[in-house]
Amino acid sequence: MEKSVVNPWEVSGVIDYDRVVREFGVQKIEDTLLKRFEKIAGESHFMLRRGIYFAHRDLSWLLDQYEKGNKFFLYTGRAPSGPMHLGHLMPFVITRWIQKVFDVDVWIQFPDEEKFLTKNDLTLEKTREYMKENMIDIIALGFDPKKTHFLIDTQHANLMYKEACKVAKKITFSMVKSSFGIDESSNIGWIFYTSMQAVPAFLPSVLKNKKMPCLIPHAIDQDPHFRLTRDILPKLGYSKPASIQCTFLPPLQGAEGKMSSSKESGAIFTTDSQKEVETKIRKYAFSGGRDTLEEHRRHGGNPDVDISYQYLKYFFESDDSELGKIHRKYKSGEMTSGELKQIAIDKINGFLKEHQKRRKTAEKQIEKFIYKV
Ligand code: TRP
Repeated sequence: MEKSVVNPWEVSGVIDYDRVVREFGVQKIEDTLLKRFEKIAGESHFMLRRGIYFAHRDLSWLLDQYEKGNKFFLYTGRAPSGPMHLGHLMPFVITRWIQKVFDVDVWIQFPDEEKFLTKNDLTLEKTREYMKENMIDIIALGFDPKKTHFLIDTQHANLMYKEACKVAKKITFSMVKSSFGIDESSNIGWIFYTSMQAVPAFLPSVLKNKKMPCLIPHAIDQDPHFRLTRDILPKLGYSKPASIQCTFLPPLQGAEGKMSSSKESGAIFTTDSQKEVETKIRKYAFSGGRDTLEEHRRHGGNPDVDISYQYLKYFFESDDSELGKIHRKYKSGEMTSGELKQIAIDKINGFLKEHQKRRKTAEKQIEKFIYKV
């Protein structure tokens, strides 16, 4: 089998998440920890319950701190490089939920230089344009404007650069080389970049002049950045940030890699029309059904590889008993692939209809979210 790759610049192949846990040195979110988290939160979230957020670092420590009255803040981010698809929304959905149930501040970084540095064809002007669109998507998820702060690397440079230098001084080229798989031919902006991504994990503590715990929800490919951040922050007098990691929403074609904007036919974008969603699911969504209806009725389908089912599980059917029913019916052959696809289409379109409506009001709110120095 082809070896899978998971790092901030590349995700490909069939990802074995148990191997990722071992190789990255993250902890699996075990049941007792999950129960404790839910108890303190007073609610449960399906992405946690279903293991879509499957790993963490220092989550129990974070909860200890919380119970001692030392509230944490949340930190996550988005490097603008194009329009957002459903996979991109996952860390923001959980972040918004944690903000709500714990009533905490959220810091969202928009490193508008990151993809400019690491991708050949992007200008800074272009990443700016994407950034605005991305902000609209994120605001549309319902973040609290009083408790959510956007940091833009090039715009908040006066605030961030000084702190990034403190981080950079503690990181050697060889540490970056091994963490990110870059080499002598990589541009030096790319080498420095990780120190900018470390900053929001302690900037709120700098601004408040008080050490606050930090929780970072992120997709597992970002972990190399935060492994370095965790090494460095204690040397600067701050605690290591805690984190939770999610798996990738699979692309339409099936189990390999992640939903990606570079393959138009592999992704559903937040601005897709109802018709486009329907076509994409009908035409491209990998089906776990049998070749003929007769065989399907007799042997049943395979929900574990069926993309329509996976999207319901990952994102669009939060009700466990409803999802269980679909699983049973599809597996027994009572539900056809066409019927399953229709459920996914309706659910995704229902979400997008609301989301696109909220995008309209979100556009006028951007200024409220940008951190004022
Ligand atoms: N590097 C991330 C990306 O490619 C952006 C990012 C910045 C981020 N800070 C973060 C992601 C914190 C998760 C958590 O989109």
